[in-house]
Amino acid sequence: MGTTLQGKRALVTGGSRGIGAAIVRRLAREGADVALTYVSRPDAADEVVAAARALGVRALAIQADSADGAAVVAAVERAAAEFNGLDILVNNAGIAVITPLDDYSIEDFDRVLAVNVRAVFLATQAAVRHMEADGRIINIGSVNAERIPFPGGSVYALSKAALVGLVKGLARDLGARGITVNNIQPGPIDTDLNPAEGDFAEALKKVTALPRYGTADEVAAMVAYLAGPEAGYVTGASLTIDGGFTA
Ligand SMILES: NC(=O)c1ccc[n+]([C@@H]2O[C@H](COP(=O)([O-])OP(=O)(O)OC[C@H]3O[C@@H](n4cnc5c(N)ncnc54)[C@H](OP(=O)(O)O)[C@@H]3O)[C@@H](O)[C@H]2O)c1
Repeated sequence: MGTTLQGKRALVTGGSRGIGAAIVRRLAREGADVALTYVSRPDAADEVVAAARALGVRALAIQADSADGAAVVAAVERAAAEFNGLDILVNNAGIAVITPLDDYSIEDFDRVLAVNVRAVFLATQAAVRHMEADGRIINIGSVNAERIPFPGGSVYALSKAALVGLVKGLARDLGARGITVNNIQPGPIDTDLNPAEGDFAEALKKVTALPRYGTADEVAAMVAYLAGPEAGYVTGASLTIDGGFTA
């Protein structure tokens, strides 16, 4: 167990499974107290909380659908109240609706933008009220902001591209307060959202330089770097971890 985040207080949205769960575990391993949000799987959320507590940190799960702006803000307030402040916000919750253009509904368009973009803005706005200097905002974007090598993903790509601009603007908003804001852009990562087996995966592996999927733990390691003291001068940046998908 490391100590680089000892005494820090974190909130990870969508922390019950996949990349978010790996981030919760990694931050806890570095000594941070961690709250997570989830929507539909309390069993999975409880399991991650138990694993974090077993590492000796405080942990809690909060049910909050990122599509609901008020619920996101309430989750930030609850985490900040429970931990008496916040140091790290990881905006990880995200959804992908991959649908042919002709069939793409306005409801799906609005939901993807609400979860992947609006919630990131609202959670950040709420979280920084509880942050002091050295606060960290870390978003999980996607390399699909840069490259979307299949049809049906235009709205997902749009939502993740929006984060590239958002972190630049927020870095300017928060720089004077010593709070950094960054974006991580993973390539194909083995999770329920994008399993490393199957036809879709075979096509993706063909267009990465390293012919494999990445792991959630590899993304979590980049989050730990950005959350830690060594990344104090990194802000407004989009860092890519994609096995050479965009090479
Ligand atoms: N996997 C990839 O290849 C990949 C690549 C690039 C970027 N990303 C991004 O990485 C992030 C995590 O993806 P993942 O692959 O780990 O996804 P995942 O396996 O589908 O896990 C999603 C997590 O987010 C939660 N969640 C889903 N919808 C939510 C909502 N509306 N509000 C709050 N929480 C919600 C889920 O909670 P429940 O357990 O309650 O359902 C779960 O904990 C997303 O932003 C995604 O766009 C993923």
